[in-house]
Amino acid sequence: MAIATITATGVSSQPPAINHGAVTQKVTRPTIKLPQSLIDEARAVEKESFNPSKHVVFQHPKRIYSMEEIGLEGHGISPNAVSEPFPLFSQDAVKQMRAEIFSEPVLDSCQYTSVFVKHTIRGMGPKRAPFTYNAWRSPEVLSRISEVAGMELVPVMDTEIAAINIAINNQNPSVAQTNDSSKENDLPAFAWHYDSYPFVCVTMLSDCNHMTGGETALKTGTGEIMKVRGPAMGTAVVMQGRYINHQALKALGGQERISMITSFRPKSPLLKDESVLTGVRGISNVPELYSQYTQYRLEILEERIKDRLKTERYRELAGWTFNISEVRQFLNEQMEFLESMLNELVE
Ligand SMILES: [Fe+2]
Repeated sequence: MAIATITATGVSSQPPAINHGAVTQKVTRPTIKLPQSLIDEARAVEKESFNPSKHVVFQHPKRIYSMEEIGLEGHGISPNAVSEPFPLFSQDAVKQMRAEIFSEPVLDSCQYTSVFVKHTIRGMGPKRAPFTYNAWRSPEVLSRISEVAGMELVPVMDTEIAAINIAINNQNPSVAQTNDSSKENDLPAFAWHYDSYPFVCVTMLSDCNHMTGGETALKTGTGEIMKVRGPAMGTAVVMQGRYINHQALKALGGQERISMITSFRPKSPLLKDESVLTGVRGISNVPELYSQYTQYRLEILEERIKDRLKTERYRELAGWTFNISEVRQFLNEQMEFLESMLNELVE
């Protein structure tokens, strides 16, 4: 499998193939209903606006594994691979997010199921979930996530704020059982895969006190398997998931496991963006997904062209010789960028 290398603006090498989600092309809604007690409890909070000084309780992770440490030096877009869980949101913030997730408008239109994820809520958007949206768009949260990622990041697009994976004990015994033998503990909740987007932040919105397991298993560059602890209530893990082969291991015990997944891309338009839509097409509002994807990718292209024009105008003023190979490389990279959009925007 070809692995990408870092280039300034480029998409010059093939990123890892995506091996999940492709089978779910058509949107499917979950048939299992969520317990009413869970919904009622989540809704019974007084609504607040997002306030970073109250709701962000960030502490730098105790440990961040580098790509070099896991044998993937030079792959991806940042030297940082994955963090240990770190405090990010206060308990009040978690309650506000849960109230939005289990609100009527969200449950009416944002629930999906696929082979890959049994019950997920996606595309809540700023209207249905203003607290969650404002949290993930706030400079305070973004600077903290960027600090852990080792590079400046922004959410990939609005529709990826956020994805919430839900496992309920009595509905899905294969995901959350009370049996916690070590053999059971190592069972995967998801297959091995690379994510669709460069970085992911997984935030836990459930109390994990009575849970075991729930780690993320990674495949290192030498093929060994390494386990990283999963997040507990309010804490988060940041991972360069597009470039690391990984799987979530089953969590055992506890009544529910609700995790929020927010996906990120580089803030700089000059860095490569190897996002794909393979894993999310079947669990998204496709017209919205395609529109937001098209907009942000064209914005990137616009900024790259502006930057290239500036360089070219300056070169002429300075009287330097036209650099044919440099301009050709730029054009080739943009052609690959547009070709990958053609691959993603399928009927
Ligand atoms: Fe993943």
